[in-house]
Amino acid sequence: LMKGPLPSLFFCIGNPVVGNPTQYMMEEAFLAMDFPGQYITCEVEPNQLQTALEGLKALKVAGGNVTAPFKQLVFPYLDSFTESARLSNAVNCITLQADGTYQGDNTDGKGFLQSLQEQVGNLSERRVVLFGAGGAASAIAVELVLCEVQEVILVNRTREKAEALAQRLRGVTKTTVSTQAWEGTYQIEEDGLVVVQATSVGLFDEKRCIDVAFSQGLQDVIACDVVFNPTDTAFLKRAREVGATTLDGLGMLVNQGVLGLQNWTGMVPDAQVMRAALEKAFS
Ligand code: ATR
Repeated sequence: LMKGPLPSLFFCIGNPVVGNPTQYMMEEAFLAMDFPGQYITCEVEPNQLQTALEGLKALKVAGGNVTAPFKQLVFPYLDSFTESARLSNAVNCITLQADGTYQGDNTDGKGFLQSLQEQVGNLSERRVVLFGAGGAASAIAVELVLCEVQEVILVNRTREKAEALAQRLRGVTKTTVSTQAWEGTYQIEEDGLVVVQATSVGLFDEKRCIDVAFSQGLQDVIACDVVFNPTDTAFLKRAREVGATTLDGLGMLVNQGVLGLQNWTGMVPDAQVMRAALEKAFS
């Protein structure tokens, strides 16, 4: 019955990795899929990155995740890249290909987009205000452009970074990519907007919120936060007070994991089980 070893080992590399919840979610997903996967979380010293990746290649490990500070640093050691990885200039997911090479993908933005589409449906008529221009914001901006939303408006504390990201994404599809200044409080006053909080504000101090205000009477604004713990951030509370629909960051984290598992195994894992595992890890 046994036809040979199963490609069942997966990894996460980062530094630090303390507090990284991905392993919990992957372990529960494997159990629910009845798949004999093993997911290991490894803290790699930055000067050992190449050695670590060569070791994984030598072991023919089936795939894994990459987190800070390695999302850009892994590029020289991989063989091919998806459009999402190339455009966002970041890899969070590595997959062993049939020919033995390794492909880098970015499933962070795709995971976000999937959550948003589940909530909103068709995005082609939507304008999106995206706060931030770092790693998370870049990955999201790329997917918004690839799925051809009407317009992406990048708003970042350091406007030059927003402008550099906009320049990379202009002309990729028919999506208009613009930037706006962020001086004082940014007022959300247009109905129908999708507003995405993708800065790191609120990540380490849950009471903090970016300098944004929502006008009263917005019927159809969707406010999303990439911060996943807590699921109800100060930003989302502020949006809900004026009647906006909110989308927490946990869905993005779950969905990027789902997409990773699909890349690695070709199987579709149970997203509900994975979300429950994360909620338990944070409780
Ligand atoms: P991540 O991986 O979470 O995206 P990052 O790449 O370090 O982290 O990016 C952090 C983002 O949060 C940046 O857009 C940063 O703005 P700057 O480009 O001006 O640095 C934003 N950010 C961090 N602290 C902020 C603050 N206090 N107010 C507004 N934006 C902030």
